[in-house]
Amino acid sequence: MQALPNLFLVGPMGTGKSTIGRALAAELHRDFFDSDHVIEQRCGCNIPWIFDVEGEAGFRIREAQVIDEITRRQGIVLATGGGAVMHPTNRRLLRERGVVVYLSTTIEQQLRRTARDRNRPLLQCADPEKRLRELLELRDPLYRDTATLIVSTDRRSPRSVVAEIRRRARRYACHSSSGCSSELSGYSF
Ligand code: S3P
Repeated sequence: MQALPNLFLVGPMGTGKSTIGRALAAELHRDFFDSDHVIEQRCGCNIPWIFDVEGEAGFRIREAQVIDEITRRQGIVLATGGGAVMHPTNRRLLRERGVVVYLSTTIEQQLRRTARDRNRPLLQCADPEKRLRELLELRDPLYRDTATLIVSTDRRSPRSVVAEIRRRARRYACHSSSGCSSELSGYSF
């Protein structure tokens, strides 16, 4: 029996990675991890505190350690932070250790979803829209480079996004192996 492939979600802030990831894991009866939550649990402090005290560089070191550790597991769903793809090692580990899904959306949707959130230090600035645009310009090629599948979450229910991920991940697994054998049906995408 082959190992159950991992499903890793990448994409910008406010694209729905945590909500979709949790719903996907529940449907597939898999363990769900959110790298930001794991970082906070380990540290015993929240992300703004880490950015204040250790800077973004300190946060990225913690993030890389957590991603390396969690992606060693099998059969999990992982939602990563929006900047995880900045680190080349993270990109390589995600690609090597699972099926990577880029959840994309519009800047307007990101703004709506992050409007009242004080837990994202990069958006505590005078012009969050400009910041989101700059980040997307920089990171979109990296999300694309890392991803196996690109799925839009714009104006869609989590349920419909989860159904699309399952359908396309199943098709991808069939194509990238020797066909949809009975073994593959055990993947339960
Ligand atoms: C970040 C995104 C956040 C979190 C941190 C930095 C980023 O995660 O990791 O605030 O650089 O885009 P979400 O994408 O879950 O908001």
